[in-house]
Amino acid sequence: MIDRASVIAVLDTVIDPKSGQGLMASGMVQGLVVDQGRAGFVLEVAAQDAPLYAPVRDEAEAKLKALEGMDRVSVILTAEAVAKPARRTASLSTAAVEQTKPKAPVPTERPAHVKRVLAVASGKGGVGKSTVSVNLAAALAKRGLSVGILDADVYGPSMPTMMGISGKPDYVDGAIVPLEAHGLKAMSVGLLTKGTDAMVWRGPMASQAINQMLSQTRWGTAEQPLDVLVVDLPPGTGDVQLTLIQKTPLDGVVIVSTPQEVALSDARRAHTLFEKVGVPTLGLIENMSGDIFGRGGAKAEAEKLGVPYLGDLPLDASVREGGDAGTPVVVAVPFGDIASRFDSIAESLANTLNS
Ligand SMILES: Nc1ncnc2c1ncn2[C@@H]1O[C@H](COP(=O)(O)OP(=O)(O)O)[C@@H](O)[C@H]1O
Ligand SMILES: [Mg+2]
Repeated sequence: MIDRASVIAVLDTVIDPKSGQGLMASGMVQGLVVDQGRAGFVLEVAAQDAPLYAPVRDEAEAKLKALEGMDRVSVILTAEAVAKPARRTASLSTAAVEQTKPKAPVPTERPAHVKRVLAVASGKGGVGKSTVSVNLAAALAKRGLSVGILDADVYGPSMPTMMGISGKPDYVDGAIVPLEAHGLKAMSVGLLTKGTDAMVWRGPMASQAINQMLSQTRWGTAEQPLDVLVVDLPPGTGDVQLTLIQKTPLDGVVIVSTPQEVALSDARRAHTLFEKVGVPTLGLIENMSGDIFGRGGAKAEAEKLGVPYLGDLPLDASVREGGDAGTPVVVAVPFGDIASRFDSIAESLANTLNS
């Protein structure tokens, strides 16, 4: 029988690279659940530390799995939206939204030949926002829509990996030609810069990159406009969100969260930011829903906020594998359980965006 004490003992043999202490002693472990043969917890780190802690998560997971009688282990690594030194900027930006709201020029034009712009947001990193963005885009495309995806996550652009795209985009007649994969058009901040390291851009640079990807990319043509542009935002409520809100009218935002309360309170903050500027929250999606961390947190939260609940996605290896391999699970396993969940989310969003 697995007990809490033996899980804690194992976690203290995994060293926190920053403090040099055991993981438990360092205070990094949040929401530890130990139940029968299952264990799970959340490691919450600053965005720039996420790469440092990925091996820590793997080590903790492997060591716990090796315990006799352990059936299931789940360690979720979530990254705080903004690195500590930049935090001031983030809150200033949110304040700026509030202050300038009445005066802010309301953008009237979507990017050329784009009919709808849909943002995917979350309070924290690592909750599956990019995963949802690509799979949702693929599910919308399956419905016959022409769909583009814009990876605006300056802290950790993941579209190149998740969509299996690389190389600098071409410029033709002064416009950026988006890359194409899995029937989607795609642009990523990761394609505008060298290297694939997670980067923390300064506000003005990030805003400029977003602006360029919105306004200079040939998403569609007069003959073949893009039906939906899905924007994968960085976590939180910072400069990129602000830029997007100022540069283009958003038709709605979808908020992704995990079932834990820690992530949920951030989902609420994301909803509040968009609500303040008049962008409707089209719904909440619960990702990594399951027996270890519980289920239903996002549904209850959606009811509290008075926004639609779009459904849940279980923690499932095929989702991660699809992302790592560059073929979204909706494309790789088109008739599977995960694909059918995305199909129904896409159906409900397509109906809302059409109405
Ligand atoms: N439902 C799921 N089941 C299993 N793994 C998932 C699931 N959703 C996301 N992941 C994995 O979790 C990690 C973080 O997801 P990602 O979409 O990059 O999050 P975010 O964009 O919010 O930072 C990725 O390795 C991804 O493949
Ligand atoms: Mg992401």
